[in-house]
Amino acid sequence: MATQWYAAEVRMRTWAMWSLRRAGKVGARAVVLGRPTVDASDLEVGDDFKVWSGHRKTLISGWGRLRIGDRVFVNCGTVIIAVKEIVLGNDVALANEVSIVDSNSHGLEGRPHVEAPVRIGDGTWVGNRAMILPGVTIGRRVVVAAGAVVTHDVPDDCLVAGNPARLVRALEYPPGCRRAWHDEWGCPCPKLVAEGPSDERRPDVAGAGPA
Ligand SMILES: CC(C)(COP(=O)(O)OP(=O)(O)OC[C@H]1O[C@@H](n2cnc3c(N)ncnc32)[C@H](O)[C@@H]1OP(=O)(O)O)[C@@H](O)C(=O)NCCC(=O)NCCS
Repeated sequence: MATQWYAAEVRMRTWAMWSLRRAGKVGARAVVLGRPTVDASDLEVGDDFKVWSGHRKTLISGWGRLRIGDRVFVNCGTVIIAVKEIVLGNDVALANEVSIVDSNSHGLEGRPHVEAPVRIGDGTWVGNRAMILPGVTIGRRVVVAAGAVVTHDVPDDCLVAGNPARLVRALEYPPGCRRAWHDEWGCPCPKLVAEGPSDERRPDVAGAGPA
């Protein structure tokens, strides 16, 4: 079991080196599963970056400034296209088929099209098929519910849902909790770190597990 796990880890880390070869900077322990297209030309990612590209292809693209923090997870079919600036903080999780764009690509009523930076704060979890539109800043430890279309800024520590996304409620976290997507696969919450790894599939807990 442990041997298989290490073999898979080595494969995913080796594949990450190839898949992320166009990035200006890649931190330690990046893993890639499947065949994402990562051709963003101004991309820097932190440590423990994890990208899955399975039933749908994941795309990380564009010529804008794209900065991704530590322990970020990008799940299958997610599309990130930066033409101006997209910044994902630390401990951000993007679930299946999330869309993050900072440009409308086409202008309304003959006007120039909108290009505006998108920022997603530390510890935020973006649910399946949510869309984050140009100019939006999302705070820390936010949960964006599945299918939400986020058109306006979102404050820290809250749940938003719907189209357009509206505040559902404020979220309260235990002291030291850094992620909205709490789990036992690499969550940096002090309690889980103190307890050590709980999953024998992952002797080194940093950055592992599904979102
Ligand atoms: C947000 C979520 C985590 C549920 O959180 P919760 O605290 O248990 O929220 P509740 O189920 O109590 O719902 C609270 C309210 O938000 C609404 N709501 C929850 N999720 C919603 C969604 N995706 N879209 C619209 N409304 C939603 C509920 O209907 C409820 O509204 P009501 O009070 O009027 O009945 C869950 O709905 C969700 O979206 N999960 C994402 C799953 C996912 O993408 N997984 C990724 C795996 S990689």
